[in-house]
Amino acid sequence: MKVPPLWLAPMEGITDRSFRKLAVETNPNCIGAVCTEFVRITQPPLSVEKLRSELGNKFEGPMHGLQLMGNNPQMLAASAQNAAEAGADFVDLNFGCPAPRVLQHCAGSALLDDPPEMEKLISAVVQSCSVPVTAKIRAGGNDDSKLKEIAQRVEGAGASALCVHGRLRSETYSDPCNWNRIRKVVQATSIPVIGNGGIEKHTDIAQMKKETGCAAVMIGRAALSNPWIFSGETPARQRKLEWLTTYLTRMEESGALPTQALGRLKQAVKYMANAKQLELTNGLALCLRSSTQEELFESLG
Ligand SMILES: Cc1cc2nc3c(=O)[nH]c(=O)nc-3n(C[C@H](O)[C@H](O)[C@H](O)COP(=O)(O)O)c2cc1C
Repeated sequence: MKVPPLWLAPMEGITDRSFRKLAVETNPNCIGAVCTEFVRITQPPLSVEKLRSELGNKFEGPMHGLQLMGNNPQMLAASAQNAAEAGADFVDLNFGCPAPRVLQHCAGSALLDDPPEMEKLISAVVQSCSVPVTAKIRAGGNDDSKLKEIAQRVEGAGASALCVHGRLRSETYSDPCNWNRIRKVVQATSIPVIGNGGIEKHTDIAQMKKETGCAAVMIGRAALSNPWIFSGETPARQRKLEWLTTYLTRMEESGALPTQALGRLKQAVKYMANAKQLELTNGLALCLRSSTQEELFESLG
């Protein structure tokens, strides 16, 4: 698998198809790979049709991945092959989700505690799937003592690349991200490592590569708080407001209900304001109280 240098992270509730496309258009020729939000696999395997609707129509530019999360090797393997038939360029397996309801079902980051089981799952998927398989992990559960073993088992199972989010399952998203852990994985494996976590500004991309030796960088929240993070452009406030308008239009075109679109718009404003990427004349609280899109744009000033 040829691993492109910049990846947009999957984020449930943010990176649906319309956001992925907008992110790619906002940063021309920058984002080499995008991925769906996680799709839970239980029993039976998901059909080609269902997976095609998760993937949405592919658009020009990046490789398109479908992310699956589950703990049953047969169901994951069959779903992964269906994902390939649905048009996914690669299948990514989620071993990072820390949500309690996911942990209860021993999926996502729960599997970090059991590297041999992870290896079995990945191996089953690799053997049945006609497109490259990647894995996305956190650096561990409550500590990073198993990180080297995990990395080597992911490689041994035949994964084409490994994305490492440098935080532990027990750490919150606001804890600092430990890039040393990414470096350790780079040193322990020979498959391409995609470093992830804590990129806040464009120059952090080169810094992460320098500090860790990772082959590629994946960016999550900053893709919303600073939509130009991949290209490094620094647009004026007016263009940021125009971006929000475009974001809204794209959500509407993709069938979002007005309440959903308003919710996501507020989420975007909150991310941007908290990251000091958008100055708010009237304060964030007023914006978040808006009950219509018009009111929200008015309160942005
Ligand atoms: C709201 C939200 C939803 C997320 N959903 C997913 C997901 O569906 N699949 C996944 O692998 N990671 C998910 N993540 C984790 C991100 O992909 C990424 O690993 C994490 O945010 C760290 O990167 P960042 O510091 O650049 O944001 C999610 C993160 C956030 C904040």
